Amino acid sequence: DLTPTPDDKFSFGLWTVGWQGTDVFGPASRSLLDPVEATYRLAEIGAAAVTFHDDDLVPDESLREATLERFEKALADTGLVVEMVTTNLFSHPVFKEGGLTANNREVRRYALSKVVRNIDLAASLGARTFVLWGGREGAEHGGGKDVQAALDRYAESLNLLCAYVTEQGYDLRFALEPKPNEPRGDILLPTIGHALAFIGELDDPARVGLNPEVGHEEMAGLNFAQGISQALWHDKLFHVDLNGQHGPRFDQDLRFGAGNVRGAFWTVDALLGAGSGKAYDGYVHFDFKPPRAEASDGVWASASACMRNYLVLRERVRSFRADPEVAAALDAAEVATLREPTMAPGETLADLRAATYDIEGLAERSVGMEVLDQLAMDHLLGIR
Ligand code: GCO
Ligand code: MN
Ligand code: MN
Ligand code: MN
Repeated sequence: DLTPTPDDKFSFGLWTVGWQGTDVFGPASRSLLDPVEATYRLAEIGAAAVTFHDDDLVPDESLREATLERFEKALADTGLVVEMVTTNLFSHPVFKEGGLTANNREVRRYALSKVVRNIDLAASLGARTFVLWGGREGAEHGGGKDVQAALDRYAESLNLLCAYVTEQGYDLRFALEPKPNEPRGDILLPTIGHALAFIGELDDPARVGLNPEVGHEEMAGLNFAQGISQALWHDKLFHVDLNGQHGPRFDQDLRFGAGNVRGAFWTVDALLGAGSGKAYDGYVHFDFKPPRAEASDGVWASASACMRNYLVLRERVRSFRADPEVAAALDAAEVATLREPTMAPGETLADLRAATYDIEGLAERSVGMEVLDQLAMDHLLGIR
């Protein structure tokens, strides 16, 4: 069944359907969508949750109380929850040279205060995940940014924020969102791997994980399914941003399933635990941009298609995993054998050195990968 249900835990950023189409070459192509109206609309099309940046929900400070009241009524009316909140540290020109890692100390102090204020809002709305995407944390020039100092300041901020959340007793975890470039020429923590290594240096690494985005890893030429599999292995896949991308070029933020559809198939498989591994159990969050050419009808068609493509791909992945021919092909490819430790209990490296190996035979063995992959293609293309 391709109708979204609350159990599917689909979630959308208010900034996705709310994107007005402003780009580097032209102004908005769509009129402003009221975030509260967007919330009702997302509920109608089958979402279970919404997420937002402080400035998406409350663009006008003078209307803060009234806007929050209307928003909370929309949540109550629809049963939607707020599962994640994030802070806009990239739009206002004050952040032109960075937020938490700006060279300018006043800017860093302001950025941190903006995050803390928004953490209070996130906690009051019951969000469990707080995303940090450092779009402006980076540089266009070599000498203009002391990268080691910037990482010190990034860590300082995270340490302060973790301590604050602990002090307040909030049930909230942080998720860092890597991206290689855009809007800065080169962004700090550009990939899943960089961010994972950074988390290991923090005071409270257990409170910090990742929010990887499909397109961002693919912009760096990386395999998203493998990236999130490693994040799962580290117990760090706290959240996910699903969308589509055609290889290394500008951040396209296509609807999920557009762009690299094979990648999307393996992404869903990885989220489901790839047969026998750890699975993702958080919200299935879409962070896409309805193309600038679309009018309002296209915005909602695009949002619905994100969920539809996820459900289609989930059905295809399940049919792949349930197919007895696939099971046989997996066996032939020795995929489950990789779960066996390389050494038996009690064995030593000396035993391995003393053993004899049929090196020629092993070199000539069949690995069965093409057969297996074609079965996956057949399932993906819907002929099995
Ligand atoms: C992007 C990013 C952003 C962040 C969002 C959360 O497309 O460059 O995905 O959209 O996810 O701003 O902070
Ligand atoms: Mn994102
Ligand atoms: Mn993106
Ligand atoms: Mn985005």
